Amino acid sequence: MSEQSVFELSKPGRRGYAYPVSDVPVGQDLPAHLRRKDPPKLPELSELATVRHFSRLARMSFGVDYGLYPLGSCTMKYNPKMHNEVAALEGFARLHPLQDDDTVQGALMVMERLTASLGAITGMAGGTVQPSAGAHGEYTGLKIIRAYHLAREDHARTKMIVPVSAHGTNPASAALTGFSIVEVPTDDRGLVDTKVLETLLDETVAGIMLTNPNTLGLFERDIMKIASMVHSCGALLYYDGANMNAIMGMVRPADMGFDVVHLNLHKTFSTPHGGGGPGAGPILVTKRLLPFLPRPGIKNIGNALCMDWEERSSIGKVSGFWGNFLVLLRAYAYVLTMGCEGLREASRHAVLNANYLRARMNGMFLRPYEGLCMHEFVVSAQRFKEQYGVGALDFSKALLDRGIHPPTMYFPLIVHEALMIEPTETESLEDLDAFVTIMAELVGLASTDPDHLLRSPLHTEVRRLDEVRAAKNPSLRHCIDGMCTT
Ligand SMILES: Cc1ncc(COP(=O)(O)O)c(C=O)c1O
Repeated sequence: MSEQSVFELSKPGRRGYAYPVSDVPVGQDLPAHLRRKDPPKLPELSELATVRHFSRLARMSFGVDYGLYPLGSCTMKYNPKMHNEVAALEGFARLHPLQDDDTVQGALMVMERLTASLGAITGMAGGTVQPSAGAHGEYTGLKIIRAYHLAREDHARTKMIVPVSAHGTNPASAALTGFSIVEVPTDDRGLVDTKVLETLLDETVAGIMLTNPNTLGLFERDIMKIASMVHSCGALLYYDGANMNAIMGMVRPADMGFDVVHLNLHKTFSTPHGGGGPGAGPILVTKRLLPFLPRPGIKNIGNALCMDWEERSSIGKVSGFWGNFLVLLRAYAYVLTMGCEGLREASRHAVLNANYLRARMNGMFLRPYEGLCMHEFVVSAQRFKEQYGVGALDFSKALLDRGIHPPTMYFPLIVHEALMIEPTETESLEDLDAFVTIMAELVGLASTDPDHLLRSPLHTEVRRLDEVRAAKNPSLRHCIDGMCTT
């Protein structure tokens, strides 16, 4: 059943809300050429029709509250509802960002303490919670790396090294910051090829961007060697901490030799990831980079906190007002409720769950890189594609019919027909076993009834969409009888 738009459901004269009759003159001060000639064409619906419309739409979509969501690299774990309640507390939710510092001491304290907690988790000296996404954190961190080199009058450092397996935002952020990108390949273990890296390092390199575990779900075992090689040529190490869910409380990016790190609070720290909702990508840095952090910071003046705008070497401000404050609040609530041991346990379970699935799915798909994984692992559906014409996309579509969100497909790009599976720490043994049973069924169907997979999904609201066209030529305008959504 498809859902009609609010414009199709509209009936003239229906209202969801009755405004009192205005007792002041309307629009008198507006110049005539700015006034509307006709009233806007808005949908007219009762409150009940509106509520039912949106409830039906909600039922047609999928979320982690409905079922397993093993979307690799995205950490779609369950986020405790209690943190939404904290974020909805009136004293926080109704603050205005232009209020005077002395009226927002609680909010300043949350941001200051969260920065300190994230500093402890990453081993860094200080940071900022301003950036609003992972990619925004990358951009901020790279600007700091650039400012650091320029402050030392080291103008030749224009290159950023990025592994071929990196998340797409890494090269994009480096390009946006003005660096030229140099790719470093992975070796046959799926790790950075240090022999090639050695040949790339010289006085024109500003830094390297790495995530550890990398996007194949593998821990970069040579990280200490890599850090020493990069530092000895005068460059810095940027840590894409979006995969922090795998290592919290066990190893700190600063101890691995990184100089800058961003964290995706909307993956690891209790804000849902995906759906384009608000996120936060705070960055943390080592002591020598502190002067370059964005302003304002937060400083303690006696027994009060205030915004601190002073710092001549700062790269400036990177977000409007305070960034996504309520996401920061959720993260702080998460850190407090979990505690050190709880965060460590979360990471242990994320790695355990991934390895449990990896071991139980052994033999079903080809694994391009063998051995233990961290919080996620990558398999390839290449042999099914070659033998039966059934690829990663077809397995994914069949999973939808079985109440499971598909894993990430076709990423990382270096693995053909990739399926990237990240169960996260919040899934139970029963849910993991149910996933294995379903995957075994689909693997069986791939050879006995490939057509079933090729025709899937059969039971979803919409069947196969032209995803390329939807992404490249999105139609965001829907018109009926002259009424349009845009
Ligand atoms: C490894 C990695 N790096 C960077 C990002 C980018 O984060 P964002 O989507 O918030 O910009 C992601 C997103 O999931 C990621 O998985």
